[in-house]
Amino acid sequence: MARAIPTDPGVEHAVADFLARMSLEEKVGQVMQAEIGHVTPEDVRRYHLGSVLNGGGSHPGGGKRTSPAEWLALADAFYDASMDTSDGGQAIPVIWGCDAVHGHNNVVGATIFPHNIALGATRDPELIRRIGEVTAIELQVTGLDWNFAPTVAVVRDDRWGRTYEGYSEDPEVVRLCAGAMVRGLQGDPRSADFLDGHHVIATAKHFLGDGGTLGGRDRGDNTSSEERLRDIHAAGYVAALEAGVQTVMASYSSWHGRKMHGFRELLTDVLKERMGFDGFVIGDWNGHGQVPGCSDGDCPEAINAGVDMFMAPDRWRALFRHTLAEVRSGEIPSARLDDAVRRILRVKMRAGLFREGRPSSRPLAGRTDLFGSPEHRAVARQAVRESLVLLKNSGHLLPLRRDLKVLVAGDGANDIGKQCGGWTISFQGDGNTNADFPRGSSIWDGIREVVEGSGGTATLAEDGTFETRPDVAIAVFGEDPYAETSGDRDTLEFRSGRHGGLQLLRSLKAAGLPVVSVFLSGRPLCVNRELNASDAFVSAWLPGSEGRGVADVLFRAADSSVAYDFTGRLSYSWPRWPGQTPLNRGEPGYDPLFPLGFGLSVAEDGNLQRLPEEASTDAPRIATPFPIAAAGPEATIRIAAREGPR
Ligand code: BGC
Ligand code: BGC
Repeated sequence: MARAIPTDPGVEHAVADFLARMSLEEKVGQVMQAEIGHVTPEDVRRYHLGSVLNGGGSHPGGGKRTSPAEWLALADAFYDASMDTSDGGQAIPVIWGCDAVHGHNNVVGATIFPHNIALGATRDPELIRRIGEVTAIELQVTGLDWNFAPTVAVVRDDRWGRTYEGYSEDPEVVRLCAGAMVRGLQGDPRSADFLDGHHVIATAKHFLGDGGTLGGRDRGDNTSSEERLRDIHAAGYVAALEAGVQTVMASYSSWHGRKMHGFRELLTDVLKERMGFDGFVIGDWNGHGQVPGCSDGDCPEAINAGVDMFMAPDRWRALFRHTLAEVRSGEIPSARLDDAVRRILRVKMRAGLFREGRPSSRPLAGRTDLFGSPEHRAVARQAVRESLVLLKNSGHLLPLRRDLKVLVAGDGANDIGKQCGGWTISFQGDGNTNADFPRGSSIWDGIREVVEGSGGTATLAEDGTFETRPDVAIAVFGEDPYAETSGDRDTLEFRSGRHGGLQLLRSLKAAGLPVVSVFLSGRPLCVNRELNASDAFVSAWLPGSEGRGVADVLFRAADSSVAYDFTGRLSYSWPRWPGQTPLNRGEPGYDPLFPLGFGLSVAEDGNLQRLPEEASTDAPRIATPFPIAAAGPEATIRIAAREGPR
């Protein structure tokens, strides 16, 4: 593959110069990344650490109400420590990475965008590029340099708890979105704004095959053929590399039983050599510790396989000590360490960190007027509008007139935390209240404003009870937030709570009301019963902090014309029954309830026949969860033969 960023002799020369002057200890420090709850600026100074991160839900000082100014102050403290040369070492700026996976989602007050599953439904690369740009700006306000995004997983089994972090089951859609997001975060590699003070370093993750594990198990084993690994799972990397992505994160998962953090043929031979990636590979959170024979504090195999920087949140001291000893003993070749450091310094130079100075002196630092600004929120609201997928619309119920008596029900109606999902302020996205989203809006907020502004009445009753008979009921319900492994499920059955779904819908129907369902979820789930009990059904995914975008589309304009049509189209196939997974376009026997690309517009006939309900609960789980491609096995054997004894 052609390199997106041509080799710059000036940069290469400067990097070589640093390498010649760095001590072994400083080099080992560069390849370590520690977590802010387990590292101080003094540690960064003393060990010359190359990077710090904050994990999901980890905030400077611990409390979730930390202000952008406090993030910036800590960024300055780490930076100053990294530039301190009083011990005779080199001044190399530390980089701070975090998971801003749907906006700068660790910080209260940030613009929270819909999760990637929703962005995939927009199929709108220009919008996605703009989202990357806004996310980078909000990161720069707080002094952060590096985003562990986008996730370019091609998700093949929706039982996976990270399904919503992926754009699609379809490699083409992932390709489209991945490149756009990288260009938004980093700037266009062919323009002068590439990695300038308005942009941040992006990461394509998790290399490789994270979305194709057996049974959709998080951190599981991908047993697809080499062809499928390349044609399906690698699609997003091709686009991200073309867009100039500077870092790639290794996956927790395995391919045919071998952990990616120790997979030299894929990390080094394929990614770096064949695909020409000259940035650096970051490990995942103690991902090296899962390689056989390794622990969180000791893993020469990972660096030898091609991991350039260890994400070693808590055990970085032990890892530093062992890595140093292993370079001294030759177990880690010093050329390999030099290559890792060269890659890290190259990225830091390309990102302008050597000339930009302290985080607080960079152009957007401390610009809290830009943080969660109305302009940024407008982008998120547009994304919400474009991502809604209309699955059922009996008798053209939607869009609704604005002057109606509207009852709004369901446990998702007025819960911004629920509509944001995982990776929102806390790691799991739990424990949040609407007060944690200043200037954000719930779906109810948006409906109330539209209806009350146009002579209608809006009433919120989570349990769906009413005194005055409404003209229509809107029920908002769905999955509660989760992240990673805790989101893994055995089937795709939707289980609603008391005010969460079926009971509510049935009671509203029993009262003879037209019912509009707004379904919040991180994946398609079997909702045959809920579909039967609804007159209209909208899949809203995890829309984020701008709930107003939902009412924008549910209601007509004041003059009764269609304000915004539904333009979202499924980027994942929708199952007929809970055990119908994996379910992906192009596979033998593909028979979804709604295929990839489905989505009604309001003018279309949206009537849906009554769906079988028994199957919703009783259908068996598929025994072979991952159909192996006919072409597969030989290719796999080829790689396996090269790898030698384990
Ligand atoms: C996740 C990564 C994430 C990292 C840092 C890991 O558990 O797999 O996607 O970037 O944590 O928070
Ligand atoms: C996640 C981190 C998170 C941590 C919390 C890890 O698995 O990757 O982002 O901060 O768990 O315990």
